Amino acid sequence: MQGSTCAVLTFICVSGVLASLPLPKYIKPCSRNDPDIDECAKRHAKDVISHPALAQGDSKYKLPPLNPLEIKESIVRDKRMTLTLRDLKIYGLLGAEVDAIRYDFEKHHMQFLLNFPLVTVLGKYETDGRILLLPIKGNGNINITDVNLNVTFDTDYSLQQIRGKTHMILENGKCTVWSGRTYVHLTNLFNGNEVLGAQVNAFINENWKDFQDAVSPAFAEVIARTITTLVNNMATLVPYDEVFPETVS
Ligand SMILES: *[C@@H]1O[C@H](CO)[C@@H](O)[C@H](O)[C@H]1NC(C)=O
Ligand SMILES: *[C@@H]1O[C@H](CO)[C@@H](O)[C@H](O)[C@H]1NC(C)=O
Repeated sequence: MQGSTCAVLTFICVSGVLASLPLPKYIKPCSRNDPDIDECAKRHAKDVISHPALAQGDSKYKLPPLNPLEIKESIVRDKRMTLTLRDLKIYGLLGAEVDAIRYDFEKHHMQFLLNFPLVTVLGKYETDGRILLLPIKGNGNINITDVNLNVTFDTDYSLQQIRGKTHMILENGKCTVWSGRTYVHLTNLFNGNEVLGAQVNAFINENWKDFQDAVSPAFAEVIARTITTLVNNMATLVPYDEVFPETVS
């Protein structure tokens, strides 16, 4: 108890004196008066995504490593499927192509369209229910690999005063995801019964669209939450005037 009180107080003290930060060097700003701001942002986003700082993380800006991105748990539960996924590692997020970025400064809204040529999700799965309506019992490793994964991220934002400066904070982020092709592999189905396991894996891969439909709402939620958290970690440190200055020299 004593220990945690100290930790909390220290944290408050530290964050109390924390000054605002400029944008990190690997993010180039676009002027909010640029008539082609969407194009400017799209160009700069490509440089950011391929920068090594994102793969390794940047603790100064509270960014965790992004390749792989680690997710503790995601639960898929709909009429076709009951599947618990744990200790996920997501590879390939930094290979994204930015198809479009759209800012609406009047409506306080933005949209990102991203394409990921290859994303692999590795982790543990557990099910004692259904996968694509088949009654299935299993507990092992899962590999979900998406080729040509498209993601849209839509979010509102509000302007908030933090330490006397205006900051842009994302709210109500939502994602949709869909894949050009999904490959799935589950180990240790039916207590390691090889024949049944191979049949079930073959069935899921023949019906990969239905599998993708069932898992995509859960993945979309995880991705939306992750993007919102990462951006807001940085956005609470870097004032709006640094992110979207009046002019860029
Ligand atoms: C995951 O599955 C993909 C597609 O089948 C495969 O290319 C890749 O090697 C697998 N990764 C691992 C770690 O098993
Ligand atoms: C993903 O988006 C790109 C560009 O917007 C498009 O050309 C492609 O067909 C889309 N892929 C799928 C699987 O819908």
